Amino acid sequence: MNRSEVSLQDDYEHPDPLEYILESVLMPSDESLEYKLLADDYNSVLLNQCHCSGVCEDSKICPHGGQYDCSDGNDVLLRKTSLPVLECNDLCTCSRNTCCNRLAQYGPRKNLEIFDSPVFGSKGLRTTVGISKGGYICEYAGELLTPSEAKKRLLYNEENGLMNYILVLNEYASEKKQQVTIVDPSRRGNIGRYLNHSCEPNCYIAAVRIDCPIPKIGIFAARDILAQEELCFHYGGEGQLDNLVDGKPCLCASSKCTGFMPSTEIE
Ligand SMILES: C[S@@+](CC[C@H](N)C(=O)[O-])C[C@H]1O[C@@H](n2cnc3c(N)ncnc32)[C@H](O)[C@@H]1O
Ligand SMILES: [Zn+2]
Ligand SMILES: [Zn+2]
Ligand SMILES: [Zn+2]
Repeated sequence: MNRSEVSLQDDYEHPDPLEYILESVLMPSDESLEYKLLADDYNSVLLNQCHCSGVCEDSKICPHGGQYDCSDGNDVLLRKTSLPVLECNDLCTCSRNTCCNRLAQYGPRKNLEIFDSPVFGSKGLRTTVGISKGGYICEYAGELLTPSEAKKRLLYNEENGLMNYILVLNEYASEKKQQVTIVDPSRRGNIGRYLNHSCEPNCYIAAVRIDCPIPKIGIFAARDILAQEELCFHYGGEGQLDNLVDGKPCLCASSKCTGFMPSTEIE
């Protein structure tokens, strides 16, 4: 069974000399059992499909739908919920033209810009136009890592005073950890790698699945955002999701700043 044909459009590029990828990819093989399990997940296809002919917006009608609100007309908006998002895919009978349950699969929004952030003293990501609350920004795409490889890279970054890009997404079901997804865009990544951490962020992350059991880490607007605002999310996540590992002093300059960036162990 093949993964959906990629229809993802991404015209952005890096200012840094590293490979630009459109969506997360497997880390290089290290022959470990952990890697084999990760690769098995990466290469599997979710076989669930809907049999809709409509818009796939109402969860009572469409088993995939319910998370995206399409009533805005200009933009598809994520409803604020802690549930993971399951988008429609190539196996669904709905039409791409009418289905509103497809967003992250089309790639990042337009009008994003990498810039030198004066607040953080490094690069950041901003929008040149306003974004409504719930609007999709982009995937936080990078190499999918095993926990052992993530620990090695974290140590290497720390010992060499490098910036850390590793994001650990923990998904829970009734308080039990169900799945851990670790993404590192330090070597290969997309525009999402330029999002800085803020203790009072205007964006948040949500797990989005299309046809792979490994979710995309989707970044969404947490409130209405003005043109030229820098886009940030809380690296510690909220509720169901955590954590970009760091623990260094925080430069976010928000009145709610705790002084430090989130820090977490990889189990
Ligand atoms: C995912 S990258 C963000 C993009 C990065 N600023 C760049 O120039 O490529 C994460 C790194 O950015 C820096 N950073 C992000 N948010 C920060 C914050 N609130 N305070 C201090 N440094 C931050 C840290 O060096 C962190 O390891
Ligand atoms: Zn569907
Ligand atoms: Zn659909
Ligand atoms: Zn802060």
